[in-house]
Amino acid sequence: MELLEVLKNRYSCRNFLNKEVEETKINYLLEAVRLTPTACNKFPIRIKVINTKSDIEKVHIATKFNFNEQVIFIFSYDETESYIRGYDNKNYGEVDTSLSIMQLLLAATNIGLATCFIGVFKEDILKQEFNIANNLKIVGLIYCGYPAEGPSSLHNQRPNISEFTI
Ligand SMILES: Cc1cc2nc3c(=O)[nH]c(=O)nc-3n(C[C@H](O)[C@H](O)[C@H](O)COP(=O)(O)O)c2cc1C
Repeated sequence: MELLEVLKNRYSCRNFLNKEVEETKINYLLEAVRLTPTACNKFPIRIKVINTKSDIEKVHIATKFNFNEQVIFIFSYDETESYIRGYDNKNYGEVDTSLSIMQLLLAATNIGLATCFIGVFKEDILKQEFNIANNLKIVGLIYCGYPAEGPSSLHNQRPNISEFTI
């Protein structure tokens, strides 16, 4: 697909088919993440891939969102590994991780998978359920699978270019 077409075709999917995502496709998505540019090339990104029914149920303890997703990627970064800007101590881990999430969202669209970024979750519960170390900061969950429905009405609501250029 042409890049702009991939960007237009990506949407937040909130209902997935009962169809397993092949391991080759999961690896394709992880390869897309691997190519992410990160501040000072530190690559602090850490991902937990969840694709068993019992582990997916554990994620649902930490968030109200259940879309019958077949795979969940828990995206985090190691705050002790990420680049910290010297003059004001800004930690770039969240920026790095956000970029890597976008790489995965677009790669998924390109191979016929759908995704949804879940930002509303309880980090402490996730860390407890999956034994995630304290120095890892969770940025988001990406639900993934084959789509059972199309985009919501919000998908086509975007500002005009003149509204966000300053
Ligand atoms: C940082 C972030 C957090 C989000 N959190 C949630 C969420 O918790 N639950 C949900 O259903 N959608 C969530 N979304 C999806 C947005 O609602 C969605 O991207 C937006 O409405 C635009 O729709 P589209 O992705 O279909 O184009 C999140 C998206 C982003 C970027």
